[in-house]
Amino acid sequence: MRNFTNVHDIGDLRTAVAEALEVKANRFGYKNLGENKTLLMLFFNSSLRTRLSTQKAAMNLGMNVMVLDVNQGAWKLETERGVIMDGDKPEHLLEAIPVMGCYCDVIGVRSFARFESKADDYEEKIINQFIRYSGRPVFSMEAATRHPLQSFADLITIEEYKTVERPKVVMTWAPHPKALPQAVPNSFAEWMNAAGYDFVITHPHGYELAPEFVGNAKVEYDQDKALEGADFVYAKNWSAYMDPNYGKVISTDRSWTVTAEKMALTNNAYFMHCLPVRRNMIVSDDVIEGPRSLVIPEAANREISAQVVLKRILEGLQ
Ligand code: CP
Repeated sequence: MRNFTNVHDIGDLRTAVAEALEVKANRFGYKNLGENKTLLMLFFNSSLRTRLSTQKAAMNLGMNVMVLDVNQGAWKLETERGVIMDGDKPEHLLEAIPVMGCYCDVIGVRSFARFESKADDYEEKIINQFIRYSGRPVFSMEAATRHPLQSFADLITIEEYKTVERPKVVMTWAPHPKALPQAVPNSFAEWMNAAGYDFVITHPHGYELAPEFVGNAKVEYDQDKALEGADFVYAKNWSAYMDPNYGKVISTDRSWTVTAEKMALTNNAYFMHCLPVRRNMIVSDDVIEGPRSLVIPEAANREISAQVVLKRILEGLQ
């Protein structure tokens, strides 16, 4: 594997999950792979899980790790070509990227959708520049349209907990006060479709995701109906994708909050969320704290998904 930005980069999902479970049982078994190799983790946005789990995964593999928060202590970066740089950004990404590439062997990038240009976001302008100009393997730690390390961890978690071959997985929109990117729901949809589960997406009208991510999923606008018989409920907020509301909050309807009453409609489903989560907006306290909540095992599997991706990238450098 050279770069990792979407489900296609990981190849066959059964093989990837099998490798993940093997790594999970033997996470220090590949310590030599990363010897004298340096990972640079670059954050344009905040993180708790991605930062810690990816760093831990790299350490499990024997790598050295450098972390740079671009907005805290680094020069502010201009990302547009052709701009007269007479403002507050003293360095251009087009010099910064190859310079960063000189100091490391692998680069992880977190760069969320900016909601300034839908085209720029959906062309993945930032992470693609790292792939093009760094000279190093690059993996996404959540980009504008996808969060593949999260989705891979979600897939591992579902495979660990499912009791039928093809579970019903329902991704439900839930309210949130701020405008959040579509990266997590897009990515989750992409991976669930690839896994071949019985996959349903439910959201209010106006929150339709990009068709290339919805794929063959069933879209059901009645949340109660969607939840019937679900084995897994994956809650997430996202802002509108459809024009003219791209990147906007168009509803905060709390009747979409995942409560015990909503979970009672399911097949005793497990509850999932990528975290961080706004309690009693997205999900009620009792559901997230309940025995069917998988939010902690899901977060724990972030270390495993990151380790498989780094392992494969390192194997490609041998
Ligand atoms: N789920 C996730 O990516 O968490 P962080 O934003 O804290 O990294």
